[in-house]
Amino acid sequence: MKHIFQEGKDASKPTLLLLHGTGGDETDLLPVAGMIDDTASILGVRGNVMENGMPRFFRRIAEGIFDEQDLVFRTKELYDFLDEAARNYGFDRDHVIAVGYSNGANIAGSLLYHYAAALKGAILFHPMVPRRGIELPDLSGTPVFIGAGTNDPICKPEETKELAESLERAGAVVEIHWESFGHRLTQSEVEKAALWYTQMK
Ligand code: MLT
Repeated sequence: MKHIFQEGKDASKPTLLLLHGTGGDETDLLPVAGMIDDTASILGVRGNVMENGMPRFFRRIAEGIFDEQDLVFRTKELYDFLDEAARNYGFDRDHVIAVGYSNGANIAGSLLYHYAAALKGAILFHPMVPRRGIELPDLSGTPVFIGAGTNDPICKPEETKELAESLERAGAVVEIHWESFGHRLTQSEVEKAALWYTQMK
């Protein structure tokens, strides 16, 4: 997958896996990563799917309606890519924290929904429920931060709560931070995520 890797100054820190929103690329969330931890390693990845010239991480049939088969396929593709990148760059595969926005948060959520040890933790900005009707793996103790909008027209508050509850049922430790700026990723939301990250166990 198209990506950038930047080795961090502090080897004890996780690798932040940056997953952009629709139409973004592997560099989009670099400023966000810098606000969360500027000493961590960074792996920014570009989604392999194109929608009218806009990169995404999986196909969708319409806004908020996912192509489930492609979602499963692309989730495995990203999972395998993480294994490969850890081997190539020598970072700790068991110490990866996803930072995803919108479509990127959805593929990060899908990694959590399908694989027990894909991520050590996740920061999900404006995520949706990636799939329904499946049993989640054991996510005991996995810390998850969700940045959500009370008036997000794409990721409705009910869906945010449904996502948090299903992750919690699987054992994840979820914190939701609410804002009222629709689907926008705001500076204060990133600041809250950065604070959560410093307290994350
Ligand atoms: C998705 O397709 O993942 C969601 O609708 C969010 C987005 O607009 O990318």
